Amino acid sequence: MSNFNRVKSAIWYSDQHFPHHDPHCLDVVEQLIQYENPDILINGGDTVDACQVSEKFSIDPMMREWLQDDIDQAAQHLAYYKSLLKRGATAHYLLGNHENRLEKAIENATGPRKEIVRLRVFQEHVTWEKIMADAGVGNWRIYGYGYQDQIQIVPNLITKHGTKLSQHSAYTGAAELRQHGRSGISGHIHRMGLHYKSDAGGNHVWAEGGCCCILQPKYMQATPNWQHGCWVIHYTNDWFNMTPVFIQDGYARYNKEDFYATTAL
Ligand SMILES: [Fe+2]
Repeated sequence: MSNFNRVKSAIWYSDQHFPHHDPHCLDVVEQLIQYENPDILINGGDTVDACQVSEKFSIDPMMREWLQDDIDQAAQHLAYYKSLLKRGATAHYLLGNHENRLEKAIENATGPRKEIVRLRVFQEHVTWEKIMADAGVGNWRIYGYGYQDQIQIVPNLITKHGTKLSQHSAYTGAAELRQHGRSGISGHIHRMGLHYKSDAGGNHVWAEGGCCCILQPKYMQATPNWQHGCWVIHYTNDWFNMTPVFIQDGYARYNKEDFYATTAL
């Protein structure tokens, strides 16, 4: 690490799954953003659950929300978090496989619907960028679900929603690191974990980003091996370190400070 570079910071959080988000967890993340005052905020995706457009999972008949309601809730959250950032700080939203359900539903349209979704106006306007803009999200840079390994939000670090699901903490990170051969952070698995590897190419580390959704959703039959959390990434142009913030029952301790959810548990 060269000493000339000022150390900057980024915060990663992901997998809120609106409307199945956990308000207590998000309350703690909010306080951490205010405390850390990051240069970069990264939302790792699956922010909208989008079960209404899932082709794989059936919709809970008791569910009253329309997709638009969930989008509006997520958009309100994103706009609020962006408002917490200092001037010049940037906010980045990596679309996950849940947001990608919309694209899949469009791609798989059949019959007369197929011709409607092929209309230029449909193709141009029914995108997450436009949907989020319509719902009031400004100034979040949105990245499509594919090729997220090719973007650089934090120098020398791959930031992606992720596609891999392994059984134990840090195993998914190991699989991502094996695939990319470079350091990174991803969500999707809803677990916290850190996997290190050093080789002739230097030190590599991959973080599993945790989640901010409820930990006991109705649709899971057993207790899922998920953890609430977010990550503080300190970085320069040629160095970084990722620190987990493990959030348990609306409480986290970071940097000798306590962060409690202010909303009642
Ligand atoms: Fe996911």
